[in-house]
Amino acid sequence: MPTNNMTEQSPVTDTKATAIPKVPALPDAQTVTEVKHYTDRLFSFRCTRPASLRFRSGEFVMIGLMGDPDPKTGKKKPLLRAYSIASPSWDEELEFYSIKVPDGPLTSRLQHIKPGDEIILRPKPVGTLVHDALIPGKRIWFFATGTGFAPFASLLREPQTYEDYDEIIITHTCREAGELTYGAELIDALKDDELLNEVIGEGFWKKIKYYPTTTREQSPKMGRITDLLRSGEAYKDLGVDPINPKNDRAMICGNLAFNLELKAMLEDFGLVEGANSDPQQYVVEKAFLD
Ligand code: A2P
Repeated sequence: MPTNNMTEQSPVTDTKATAIPKVPALPDAQTVTEVKHYTDRLFSFRCTRPASLRFRSGEFVMIGLMGDPDPKTGKKKPLLRAYSIASPSWDEELEFYSIKVPDGPLTSRLQHIKPGDEIILRPKPVGTLVHDALIPGKRIWFFATGTGFAPFASLLREPQTYEDYDEIIITHTCREAGELTYGAELIDALKDDELLNEVIGEGFWKKIKYYPTTTREQSPKMGRITDLLRSGEAYKDLGVDPINPKNDRAMICGNLAFNLELKAMLEDFGLVEGANSDPQQYVVEKAFLD
């Protein structure tokens, strides 16, 4: 009979076993609680939140999985990427919205996570898409492409957004209609969110103007937001005045080319880029793409 088989020994041994501190399988491990798939390219998931994690809505953290062992040393290293936190700062869990890249080092594996699995989360939130980086204004524009919607998913559920602004315009440009689902469902759910309607004020969601567009598949509104702003079509559709530095504030989160183009457009309108240390009229951040 093996002498080291703890499970077959007396209850005394069991007591000893439970007295050994439980070592988490991963450093900074958090447990996945929910996963939703939207298209073959997009999914969202929720996980537990470390009790000590404080962040401002719109910030990002490094998350990931343990990488494969190094063929030479056999050592494993965490594989981490920057992800905007899609849940608001008051939520007891954390939510993330992710692309799936078939041969992406992290997302090719991350897309297979299930409730109960563990992910690594480095609890050091940072970022510029925060209210602190903007000076007061009347109207705020959230400009997103693809998974760049994530920080706005947080800010749209953040009471301060509605305290600071009379009007919130969220534009989301994606290739295909199915890529709009996460954002569309989230905005729709605000109407029936009892907690937010109570905390922020009944009907707070009426301040939101949502402008989803697609570029490579038919949908009610086609085109890049940049082109739609340039032609004036977006203002007409939304029934709003053109962007001006006195009243308008903006946050940009999308792919690099989009960020640069929109940044140049906002500068042309006279808006100045802000930062945590120097709040101004607009801020920009690159969406996670790999
Ligand atoms: P398009 O299909 O015309 O390239 P991606 O999935 O490649 O990150 O793109 C997400 C969305 O961003 C797509 O609808 C894409 O349009 C759009 N996009 C890409 N570059 C720009 C840009 N410079 N200005 C505005 N929209 C852009």
